Amino acid sequence: MTQPVPIQFRDSDADALASQPGRIALLAEQGASLAPLARKLDKLTRGAVMRAVGSEAFAALKPGESLDLGFPTGLAADGVQIIRLARKVTQDQARKAGAAVGRNLSGVATLVLADTHPQAADIAFGLAMRAYDFSPHKTTPAKPVGPVTVMVAEPEKVAAAANAGAAVTEGVFFTRDLVNEPANVLTTDDFAARLAAMHELGLEVEILEEDALERLGMGALLGVGMGSETPSKVVVMQWNGGPKGEAPFALVGKGVVFDTGGISIKPAGGMEDMTMDMGGAAVVAGVMRTLALRKARANVVGLVGLVENMPDGRAQRPGDVVKSMKGDTIEVINTDAEGRLVLADVLWYAQERFRPTAMIDLATLTGAVIIALGHENTGVFSNDDALCDAFLKAAKAEGEGAWRLPMAEAYDAKLKSRIADMMNVGGRDGGAITAAQFLARFVKPDVPWCHLDIAGTALLKADSTLAPKGATGWGVMALDRLIRDRFEGK
Ligand code: BES
Ligand code: MN
Ligand code: ZN
Repeated sequence: MTQPVPIQFRDSDADALASQPGRIALLAEQGASLAPLARKLDKLTRGAVMRAVGSEAFAALKPGESLDLGFPTGLAADGVQIIRLARKVTQDQARKAGAAVGRNLSGVATLVLADTHPQAADIAFGLAMRAYDFSPHKTTPAKPVGPVTVMVAEPEKVAAAANAGAAVTEGVFFTRDLVNEPANVLTTDDFAARLAAMHELGLEVEILEEDALERLGMGALLGVGMGSETPSKVVVMQWNGGPKGEAPFALVGKGVVFDTGGISIKPAGGMEDMTMDMGGAAVVAGVMRTLALRKARANVVGLVGLVENMPDGRAQRPGDVVKSMKGDTIEVINTDAEGRLVLADVLWYAQERFRPTAMIDLATLTGAVIIALGHENTGVFSNDDALCDAFLKAAKAEGEGAWRLPMAEAYDAKLKSRIADMMNVGGRDGGAITAAQFLARFVKPDVPWCHLDIAGTALLKADSTLAPKGATGWGVMALDRLIRDRFEGK
């Protein structure tokens, strides 16, 4: 797994500044006076820091952007990076400032001057999140980044706050690694093995193989994997950190390790992106990892359906009718609408076995949600306003875009089939909504449920604030916060 860069916190020590090797990063607000350590640095550089902060170039920066002083006189360091701070330093702004440092980490030591900054833990979090680099397949591995030290008053206090953040960063990196991994490496077997290894962290992990899924009657899920050489699986991860016997909160993820579309095959252009079609399962796994690392006081179960959607002589055909674990029959009009078939059975199994207090599923489910919301927001669907509002609030607090879309009977009606209980597609119009309506048929009416369509947010083609281009890990932060706020009363 890609390991987050280790960050140490230590007491402010003005005397160490002149001899600090590598790079020094400091945060400054335009027009405001410098913090004590920055003032000391200014003195050592004979006013170069103040001149930079007072320059037009600095004034032109947006909060979170930075400028560099190269080889400053008076210092052993090779460079000083000055990050512009917003007047009001919110959690978001502090993370952004940290990310500006994390984006440029190199092999040299980096010293971040946080002084008495109350958000030093958020700065460290942003730094670590942005300093992600997926390089296991480069023959020349990425240079290890140098040690990062944050100088701050009361370092022990900050380090304690930063610990929870480190658990989230590790969960997010686990998710990103899974999403970035190509499908010849991340087969269903490999995916399941990586989840099983989380046993070490105190998670209970079970792998249900095809024969078990057959006995359970999961015909919808099994139909999707019929064309693949890599066997279909359901993996169940339990974290029981809450009151013994209390019903869990359930997370369910779509884990299509590669989606060719099956017999309804996708066009060649861009098909390589479908290595990310297990993004929902990866987020579930990342959240479970975070919960275990920070020993969450909640009962949470994560279930993922792992399959590969391939065309083959044994693959399911358009027009086939499959029977779900619930008992409802489905006419498979389009084998490329496979995610909902997988989720139908895993959602049902989750409810039958665990009787969860609430359930959230995540899936890279539809291209239609990208047409609706672009890459800025995940599409949120729900049968329960309270759960949905709580999730949206958690997402907002973490800076993860999420936008609720409607559900209604009229959309559900589009799924009517001539020969089975339903079809697996409801036409092009409102495609993300009809997909959600399909899932809703496998949610018991008394179970508060949210569906998160992350097709547009799981992977980005450009850098974002907290991630380089590629997998984002969208949702790990929001779900971890939801669990903290709603189930742990923190
Ligand atoms: N995995 C895709 C959805 C997707 C598209 C995810 C783009 C990420 C980026 C899903 O299985 C799919 O193929 N959906 C079809 C549904 C259609 C056949 C009703 C789609 O969106 O075109
Ligand atoms: Mn598909
Ligand atoms: Zn898919």
